[in-house]
Amino acid sequence: MSILGRGSVFAIAMVAVLGAGIAAMAQQPAAVIETRQKGMKELGAQMKAIGDAAKAGAITKEDAVARSRKINEIATQTATWFPAGTGAEAGVKTAALAAIWEKPAEYKAAADAFAEAAAKLQVAAETGNAATIAAAHAEVGKSCGGCHRPFRQRN
Ligand code: HEC
Repeated sequence: MSILGRGSVFAIAMVAVLGAGIAAMAQQPAAVIETRQKGMKELGAQMKAIGDAAKAGAITKEDAVARSRKINEIATQTATWFPAGTGAEAGVKTAALAAIWEKPAEYKAAADAFAEAAAKLQVAAETGNAATIAAAHAEVGKSCGGCHRPFRQRN
């Protein structure tokens, strides 16, 4: 403490803390964004597969159950996909709109509607009834759009 005063030590410590914080922030949002984009793609693939089977009149219980399980698994993860700081300000390509963080209640309602529709699709899949599954699948599709319209940038 003879050469460096108390203030200097504090300042050095703060620079170290801030530096570490900035480094962590620079990495984390990009990783979160990548995870959610992958998850969304997977959702798209599962939904398309059920939709294609419906169109072809080829829905099977086994396939629908497996895919709706996957969709529900992803639905439980979505709550962690949009932490603050993972919008355009993260500096990586993302279609997530600021409205997600500006209108948290609306965003949560859209996420909840999706989770609810996904749970119903699971129940429908278990019945093995093609028409029931197709109808529940369409409802899930609506819930995707219910979030994309207000919260995802169109390209
Ligand atoms: C609660 C909001 C919400 C719900 C529900 C939702 N999405 Fe998304 N989705 C988003 C947002 C926001 C993005 C943009 C993410 C980004 O770019 O960081 C996105 C991106 C996507 C993408 C593009 C991924 C990429 O970057 O390549 C696909 C595909 C997609 N969603 C499919 C779906 C499907 C299918 C469903 C329904 C089964 C669904 N989403 C439900 C909010 C949602």
